[in-house]
Amino acid sequence: MKIFAYEVRADEIDAIKRMAEKYQLTIDTTKELLTKETLKQAEGYDAVSVISRSMVNKEVLDGLAKQNISYLATRCVGYDHIDIAHAHKLGIKVCNSLYPPNSVADFIVMLMLMALRNVKLALMRAEINDYSLAGLKGKEMKDLTIGIIGTGRIGRTVIKNLSGFGCKIVAYDSYIDENVKKYAQYVEMDELLQSSDLISLHIPLTEENHHMIGKEAIDKMKDGVVLVNCARGGLMDTEALIEGIENKKIGALALDVLENEEGIYHFDKRLDIVKNKNMAYLRQFPNVVLTHHIAFFTDAAVNSMVEHAVEGLVALMQGKQWKSEII
Ligand code: COI
Repeated sequence: MKIFAYEVRADEIDAIKRMAEKYQLTIDTTKELLTKETLKQAEGYDAVSVISRSMVNKEVLDGLAKQNISYLATRCVGYDHIDIAHAHKLGIKVCNSLYPPNSVADFIVMLMLMALRNVKLALMRAEINDYSLAGLKGKEMKDLTIGIIGTGRIGRTVIKNLSGFGCKIVAYDSYIDENVKKYAQYVEMDELLQSSDLISLHIPLTEENHHMIGKEAIDKMKDGVVLVNCARGGLMDTEALIEGIENKKIGALALDVLENEEGIYHFDKRLDIVKNKNMAYLRQFPNVVLTHHIAFFTDAAVNSMVEHAVEGLVALMQGKQWKSEII
């Protein structure tokens, strides 16, 4: 069995070699994204793998099908970069990857604390020997209500992480998880928006929830609310976030993901003209922390992303059921 893996980073190579040896596979790799221009590189292979930067649209899928490639694994959890319906139409089986939720969940709590304790401002000041305190007074978790949208694996782990801080935790999900109830109280979405001092998102991006945090939702929130997003940029309307920061409705933002980050995040753009005005504008606010989609990036997660994707492809190619096949 032959797999062609796109978007391969240097830090994935060891895990890829291990998996190739374990399953006696040929796995060839490229740093390049899967596009209609690069798909020829996968000619003669049985399966391809990508991560989230490759936009696997109709055209790319048609090209894969023409090359008789019927298996696709994304080495990340989110699969909003793949036209799943079209893949199914073409008979291409798709699976995503899984990794322990801790990488992202730890990072989320770090961003929450960074936002609540004005860490960005403190670090910036220290760089120029400004050790003053003005503007750095923060808030304590124990005094706050934290709103968790989405109680899947990541949301649940964030809740567990937060349980030691003494904050009140409210949660929203269409599926109620009994274990979550030990630490958090499920409420309706409007109640979560209205009662939370800090709101964090842990849901996949779909057509239905695109821009779910827009002007209408922000208007319902407490003045000075803190928003954290390590899920997908498209869940939040960036224009509405900017308006909220400008009129001080939003007290702080901590975003590991951003609308239109594709083509920017995970690339060295120092010598390029970066075209994302909202990103540049948001970055200059003292109360906005932007990280470049790195919440997932730990040794444990990277190993697991590769292992799970390869195991998924092997199972699918052998005609077996696979736990993270996207149906
Ligand atoms: C995911 O796994 O869905 C992520 O967001 C991480 C990815 C960008 C590598």
